[in-house]
Amino acid sequence: MKIVVLTGSPHRQGTSALLADEFIAGAVSKGHAIVRFDTAFEKVGPCRACYYCDRHDGECIQKDAMRKILPEILSADMIVLVTPLYYFNMTAQLKTVLDRLMPQRAALRKHPMKSAMLVTCGSNTDWNMDAIMAHYKVLQQYLPWEDQGVVLAKNVFARKDIEGTDYPPAAKALGERL
Ligand SMILES: Cc1cc2nc3c(=O)[nH]c(=O)nc-3n(C[C@H](O)[C@H](O)[C@H](O)COP(=O)(O)O)c2cc1C
Repeated sequence: MKIVVLTGSPHRQGTSALLADEFIAGAVSKGHAIVRFDTAFEKVGPCRACYYCDRHDGECIQKDAMRKILPEILSADMIVLVTPLYYFNMTAQLKTVLDRLMPQRAALRKHPMKSAMLVTCGSNTDWNMDAIMAHYKVLQQYLPWEDQGVVLAKNVFARKDIEGTDYPPAAKALGERL
């Protein structure tokens, strides 16, 4: 499979980057091809809601790094969202890329994909991940994506908190069982 991994953290060596690395290692060991796009380190502007795309055959008015990743998403078999929790949802960097799927929403909705989500967060409250899980669920319904699994790593504020826990092996196992 061709798998697009979208990461959302501005920490190159953070908690969610570790989960991304482990997932990728697991998937690569089973022969899958990975395209990784680190949204926090790419130039992607927020959707301007100008609907230029609807008047120009799905072409966006903004000529930025979406031109690199959108064709990869359109030809992928699977998409993986990797993000730290920011105010109970994905980071703005990652959400910006999802918003910018708008020009190709019709094509995407005709192209079912597998999906997974890896999330890290600092707190341990039981309802912490409710909003991001609800969001992930409606994305599956809309796009449509077929969930292959999630890893929700709580109580991991920084890298040292997640190293040695069960979460990195869980992310690797998710990649291995695809
Ligand atoms: C702007 C911001 C918002 C955050 N919001 C939450 C939150 O809603 N719940 C939570 O448990 N942790 C929250 N955190 C903590 C991060 O999710 C946590 O530190 C995470 O492990 C960082 O991942 P990273 O190292 O991959 O960047 C927030 C951190 C930042 C900087």
